[in-house]
Amino acid sequence: MTEREERRDAYHYFAQDGSSWIVREAVTGDLNDLVALDDIAKSVPWGRDAIAGFIGCVPGVFILFPSNRVGLTLGGPVGFVIARWVGDECEIMSIGVHPQYRRLGLGRVLMETVRRTALVHGKTSWILEVREHNTPALSLYKSIGFHEVGKRRGYYIDTGEAAILMRGDTTNGDP
Ligand SMILES: CC(C)(COP(=O)(O)OP(=O)(O)OC[C@H]1O[C@@H](n2cnc3c(N)ncnc32)[C@H](O)[C@@H]1OP(=O)(O)O)[C@@H](O)C(=O)NCCC(=O)NCCS
Repeated sequence: MTEREERRDAYHYFAQDGSSWIVREAVTGDLNDLVALDDIAKSVPWGRDAIAGFIGCVPGVFILFPSNRVGLTLGGPVGFVIARWVGDECEIMSIGVHPQYRRLGLGRVLMETVRRTALVHGKTSWILEVREHNTPALSLYKSIGFHEVGKRRGYYIDTGEAAILMRGDTTNGDP
């Protein structure tokens, strides 16, 4: 069992199956874990430098750990989300959940952490881009109230996929 000491703004959640999770801001000491997770979770990983550039920013990088019932982390991280402010809006830049921990509601938990942070900072809408064939991500975003507001054809050079532009309302209830 590993207990982490960094405890900046931490959120404690219980997932659909009753399991317990902590989401907190990432710190520089998390970078190796984040790079490894990015590599395993994403088809096109961002890599160390890009992730490092968001650590310490607001909203920046949030990282998710299994925890016990009182909120102490147990073991290594299994998810992360990266976001930034763009004018009056919050933009989701990247999200990933370890393949062995999917469909537990952890993607929703990560998005909920960003939503709460955005609201605290007065950002009432959030935006993102997603590959047109990324069904899990599209479904996650739609399930928490995002809707399509545009499409950029041929945006992703590696596959030729379109980027779907989505917008949601951060005041729109708890996912
Ligand atoms: C997208 C991703 C973050 C979702 O994480 P997750 O923890 O599995 O998502 P959740 O369990 O919170 O799912 C929430 C909802 O999203 C939808 N969803 C998630 N995965 C889905 C899938 N494979 N097929 C259909 N719907 C899916 C469902 O509506 C789900 O609710 P339900 O389980 O109650 O039906 C995860 O699949 C992932 O890491 N994918 C690779 C990285 C990626 O593509 N990131 C997005 C672009 S940066």
